[in-house]
Amino acid sequence: MKHKSLILAALALTAAACTPKSEMDQFIDSLMDRMTLEQKLGQMNLHAVSWAGTGAKLSDEDANAQAIREGRLGGLFGSGDVEYLRQMQEIALESGAGIPLITGMDVIHGFQTVFPVPLALSTSWDMDLIQRTARIAATEASASGINWVFSPMVDICRDARWGRIVEGGGEDPYLGGEIAKAYVRGYQGDDDTYDDHEVMVCVKHYALYGAAEAGRDYNSVFLDRQEALNGYMRPYQQAALAGAGSYMSSFNEFEGVPASMNHYLMNELLRGTWGFNGFIVSDYTAVSEEIAHGIGDLQEVSARSLQAGLDMDMMADGFVGTLEKSLQEGRVSMADIDQACRRILEAKYKLGLFEDPFRYLDPSRAATEVFSPEHRAAAREVARQCQVLLKNNGILPLRKDARIAVVGPLAKNPEALAGTWSMSNHNAESVTLFDGIAEVSRATFAETVAQARTADVIVACVGETEDMSGEAASRSDISLPGNQRELLKALKATGKPVVMVLVTGRPLALVEEDAMVDAILNVWAPGTEGGHAVADVLFGDVNPSAKLTTSFPRSVGQLPLYYNHKNTGRPHGEYEPFKKFVSAYLDELNGPLYPFGYGLSYTTYAYSPVTLSTSEMPLDGTVTASVTVTNTGSRDGDEIVQLYIHDIYASSTRPVKELKGFRKVHIPAGASVQVDFPLTAEDLSFYNHDLKWVCEKGDFDIMIGPNSRDLQPARLTVR
Ligand code: NOJ
Repeated sequence: MKHKSLILAALALTAAACTPKSEMDQFIDSLMDRMTLEQKLGQMNLHAVSWAGTGAKLSDEDANAQAIREGRLGGLFGSGDVEYLRQMQEIALESGAGIPLITGMDVIHGFQTVFPVPLALSTSWDMDLIQRTARIAATEASASGINWVFSPMVDICRDARWGRIVEGGGEDPYLGGEIAKAYVRGYQGDDDTYDDHEVMVCVKHYALYGAAEAGRDYNSVFLDRQEALNGYMRPYQQAALAGAGSYMSSFNEFEGVPASMNHYLMNELLRGTWGFNGFIVSDYTAVSEEIAHGIGDLQEVSARSLQAGLDMDMMADGFVGTLEKSLQEGRVSMADIDQACRRILEAKYKLGLFEDPFRYLDPSRAATEVFSPEHRAAAREVARQCQVLLKNNGILPLRKDARIAVVGPLAKNPEALAGTWSMSNHNAESVTLFDGIAEVSRATFAETVAQARTADVIVACVGETEDMSGEAASRSDISLPGNQRELLKALKATGKPVVMVLVTGRPLALVEEDAMVDAILNVWAPGTEGGHAVADVLFGDVNPSAKLTTSFPRSVGQLPLYYNHKNTGRPHGEYEPFKKFVSAYLDELNGPLYPFGYGLSYTTYAYSPVTLSTSEMPLDGTVTASVTVTNTGSRDGDEIVQLYIHDIYASSTRPVKELKGFRKVHIPAGASVQVDFPLTAEDLSFYNHDLKWVCEKGDFDIMIGPNSRDLQPARLTVR
């Protein structure tokens, strides 16, 4: 047996030796032949420019310039200043190995043109739209000296306490996977080459960062592999399959091993199973943080991170500072270092930086390509699609001739509308909620409760400011901050109808508000054109269509809360009052206030019963599930039709429902549209106890509806 595998290995080597080397390989071979060990380690080192948006300020511009000169830095991130980056690039080219820098940035939801925050974008359920935002962000970033973006963030999150829930696509792995692909296509384009308007993605945070225990940032993750694979991994996997150029390893641990030194995550799963062949950078100081995780000193953690598959060290100076010693002591091999260095050089090669190190450093582009009128128009169009109408007793849409009081702490706050991770944003040019509403209404006035008494309707702009979600912004109380609930009560006491415009980066607990106000429009952080886009919806020029991608809990005590939970052996109805000896709370219902997939419109829809093209499907067959959706109201609308499955008996327990398809369809008032979902065994598969992706024969409920709660089932048997 051993003999046989040796022969096979020898054959594989011979075959590899016979395959002609690509131009890239030849180029990098000859480059690496000329590089010193120090220069190789320099490539594996990444610094921020003088900026501390994401941790302690650890670098400054002079020190960076010196490090580049000495070949100890392979990339810089955090600057969109073409002139500065051009100077740094010149220094890099004049340094020993003359290798161009890769230049990164946290471009998360737009660059200077700020789109709605990623969680908001996900509520559009519109992949073309998400791709378009990434494309515009790539255009603006690449016109500003950036060739590498630290996006998309694809961490699945089930806990609204975690501030970074705002950066991702919600709680569902299937939807998250579709979103991940859309971002990759938008930033990088459809093929594996980059033109100078396309930038390399860095998919983050690999992996499972969104499962931080108790929603506290940077906290430990406790998941078994099966649940990790079924509930969380799909977006990372889909991004790899779509050709993502790089990944960022996360801060958290998994299975007792920090992610940035986790061999299973990086070398086995991402590279081995999913075939990813790009490079992996650590998150900010994640390598040196492995000391605090309790693994060892900087030399130990740097060596282990490298061997687990990490290629580039962001800000810890662990690779550049200790790997030479580890090499001398035999703790790492030259092959380990060469491999990591090669992957980074390959990325630079693919970006075209060896051919033209200045291709992303054209100072003439920004004037026409950044914050252009077309991009602003796109920001408005996109933000219209990302507002979730949570409640409406008929007060919305507003009449344009109504006397409207626009009050609340967020009415005139452009920063809050830009949301987290929008450091290239120009607040002064953003449209506030007040300004947006005032442009449409001829009788808008602000700002006090006393003035509101003379209004026809009150628009209360409340919620979270931009620093209440995002990194290091976890909350243990997810109700409206400060005394905003008191403000709403005072407004309600005027006897006037109150429309609550909710600005937020996370699901909030809104049971009291839901009972109190007349309408709730959740606009998240809608970006540069937020004020206009919100006015478009409030006054009915646009019919809202967005639907939640995270459950909105009734109270913080329910967290983590997610629609695709398991049934337990003692299940209890989501909205049934407490009962003894079932899985329930003494003092709270099990169900959310607003479920995953939920969102209202100014029109109404009726769903026909679900039909299946066949009630029995062989494992290699296809079934089409269909439903007819009728717009029963008087306005045209866009409806997001959702398909879920439930595997009734399986070798492992399965969620009560799992999203497996969705379509956003335009339905004119009074019209009907038939929506078809073809399904194969692939859609019915899961990772079993042996971590094999399988479809098990038996019965499935196939359910279609407007959200994860209101579904109609049909029964399918797989034979
Ligand atoms: C830390 C954050 O976790 C990550 O998302 C970001 O890309 C890096 N800092 C760089 O700013």
